[in-house]
Amino acid sequence: MKTRVLTGITTTGTPHLGNYVGAIRPAIRASLDPNVQAFFFLADFHALIKCEDPERLARSRTEIAATWLAAGLDPEKVFFYRQSDILEIPELSWFLTCVTAKGLMNRAHAYKASVEANVTKGLEEDDGINMGLFSYPILMAADILMFNAHKVPVGRDQIQHLEMARDIGQRFNHLYPSETPWFELPEAVIDESVATLTGLDGRKMSKSYHNTIPLFEGGPKALKSAVSKIVTDSRAPGESKDANQSNLLPIFQAFASPAQTEIFIDELSQGLGWGEAKQRLLTVIEQEVAPMRESYDQLMAKPDDVEDILRMGAKRAREIATPFMAKLRQAVGIGLVSTTAKKSKRKSPKGPRLVQFRDEEGQFRFKLLSTQGQTLCTSVAFKDPKQVGVILRQLEARHDDVSVKAEGELTYVLLIDDQAVAYGPTAESLSQRESLLADTARSLEELAV
Ligand code: TRP
Repeated sequence: MKTRVLTGITTTGTPHLGNYVGAIRPAIRASLDPNVQAFFFLADFHALIKCEDPERLARSRTEIAATWLAAGLDPEKVFFYRQSDILEIPELSWFLTCVTAKGLMNRAHAYKASVEANVTKGLEEDDGINMGLFSYPILMAADILMFNAHKVPVGRDQIQHLEMARDIGQRFNHLYPSETPWFELPEAVIDESVATLTGLDGRKMSKSYHNTIPLFEGGPKALKSAVSKIVTDSRAPGESKDANQSNLLPIFQAFASPAQTEIFIDELSQGLGWGEAKQRLLTVIEQEVAPMRESYDQLMAKPDDVEDILRMGAKRAREIATPFMAKLRQAVGIGLVSTTAKKSKRKSPKGPRLVQFRDEEGQFRFKLLSTQGQTLCTSVAFKDPKQVGVILRQLEARHDDVSVKAEGELTYVLLIDDQAVAYGPTAESLSQRESLLADTARSLEELAV
């Protein structure tokens, strides 16, 4: 089986060189691995939490999609879609919301940071905090669990969110036991080999530091103008410079071969002027970026084409999400009783079945249904779904000590190791009881595989 790799891109802002080197380029490279099935999506529901400017949101979405496509993402291989096109995601998010402890969300770093900022300012703790921010990790868990991703490449700030996704997935698996758990527990992947790119001032390149170099927007001119603003020391041409101390080297390295980098370091130490050095930096960046910029411009000129690609991606993704969601609806008890869902539940649609459910008190039980769907017996209540799981396995494995015995005149009891685990319905007559009891015994025989 292929490793499923999934990551989301929040659609606020325009991608810069740091996004390209730190996220886009490594993700696309990883997606080329034949053993990987990649899911990359535009997290526009997440963007809505932070951005209330509809135009900016829409523009950013097109820019980001065009950037990834221009950078070499193959939309036929990768599942490339917009989160908001998969309505199963908010639906799953609600299912997960209902199994997530509020206390877990209280501990989320992003939420806590907002609270602390309010306290520092003397404001009320939750001032200006919307429920979207509070529930952010649950929506993110839904993104990931929906496609049962194994690996999620993210920045360090997202590690806690991944832990939460695991907690939430595990909780759902536990509450709704099934033969194979519903959700794989995803792992965060922090790529140590990808250095975070430094910006104009040598700090991490980030929109919030205002030190970014644009990737495509503004064309070669904007790129050149940004490179000219990279901060250097005042050493004159001819003076020896330590490349390792300069803000140019990390960016140069991200685009050049090791051999080119060595020459660059050498030349600086021999007195290459900063102006010249910046020119060389520009050349190595352009070498990689210029051809991509061309396809970016073409895509941006035809936003409808970008939309079509995203729609196609959503269609493919929903081929996974829709049937999975139907099963999850069944699991929680709000599913339609569709014939396809029934078929997928058992290898053979014919024959008796064991069905688990939660009763009104929230306790766990199971039923034995005849081939015709008649209830042959209903179990006693269990607090722990695992206990039900154990019994079902015993019944299916033809455990030695399973028996059905008459109980009074009108019902019967199912025993495992002399423990009563389920009772038949109350029959209307002794003879009806006998026939139900016989059906039950036969069904139990049939069940065991
Ligand atoms: N929270 C992520 C970020 O800010 C974006 C995101 C949303 C995401 N859903 C995701 C990342 C699912 C990985 C998987 O970077």
